[in-house]
Amino acid sequence: QFELSLRPQRLSQYIGQHKVKENLQIFIEAAKLRQESLDHVLLYGPPGLGKTTLAAVIANEMNVNVRMTSGPAIERPGDLAAILSSLEPGDVLFIDEIHRLPRAIEEVLYPAMEDFCLDIVVGKGPEARSVRLDLPPFTLVGATTRAGALSAPLRDRFGVLLRLEYYDDRSLGEIVVRSAHLFDVEIESVAAMEMARRSRGTPRIANRLLKRVRDYAQVLGDGMITEGLAKQALELLQVDPRGLDHIDHKLVTNMIERFRGGPVGLDTLAASIGEERVTIEDVYEPYLMQIGLIQRTPRGRVATQLAYEHFGYEYPQQT
Ligand code: ADE
Repeated sequence: QFELSLRPQRLSQYIGQHKVKENLQIFIEAAKLRQESLDHVLLYGPPGLGKTTLAAVIANEMNVNVRMTSGPAIERPGDLAAILSSLEPGDVLFIDEIHRLPRAIEEVLYPAMEDFCLDIVVGKGPEARSVRLDLPPFTLVGATTRAGALSAPLRDRFGVLLRLEYYDDRSLGEIVVRSAHLFDVEIESVAAMEMARRSRGTPRIANRLLKRVRDYAQVLGDGMITEGLAKQALELLQVDPRGLDHIDHKLVTNMIERFRGGPVGLDTLAASIGEERVTIEDVYEPYLMQIGLIQRTPRGRVATQLAYEHFGYEYPQQT
């Protein structure tokens, strides 16, 4: 799949997330030295920062296969049992959105994670008994946007907890240059930095912008992504200088215009712009908080003075 080829395969190709890489490198090397499977890993942080990519990188570095699934995709205990019993020794099982795993299935996972075994119930009624099946040792890599949404018993069974952070502009610039190279497109480094600044700290967004800017370069220019062309394309794409899109705009300007800057409750806010609460919470809010445009308070969300200035509103004097 072409899409996958933008993703780094090895830790050494993975740009940014230095703390995460440094730690993983050591845990992987130690597990290999002891010829053991890697301890279970929980990756958490906002979407688009590379959790799926890292799961594949971990498997590559351990020289094992990766099996990918997600919390909502596993509906019955039997689904999970089928996956677990088909793993080869040492394999990585990646469960995305692991906080959405049904409770009944979590319970199948506990003995699997802890003792590499499955307790399954065979038979019905008074005949029913529990049978214990051995599993090959494996590494569960779980991913979630919010570690807090995980039940404590599940969270406690991960030996390695890694928090992905928003990327700085320099790392994003390197990612844009790397991806452009893989696309065989020439790009000026100032153009890459301009795109990096507008990517909300998120490689997925940077790569998406790159694809669209490349379209403009091929149609409006000679294929090369120059600074001028990048700026023109980003203007046409309506990505503002901080990378905020129209939903970010709507969210913050609504807070300012309809709720006097807040505090306003998340559900009220979600209803007022017609987005889902969890989308706001997991996708939009974290970055807006990171760059200081909104704040979370016990009474609700508040637009900051910076938000008023960024969107060209006069900040009301507090009396
Ligand atoms: N493509 C997307 N994310 C990346 C990363 N962190 N490093 C290198 N290439 C990437």
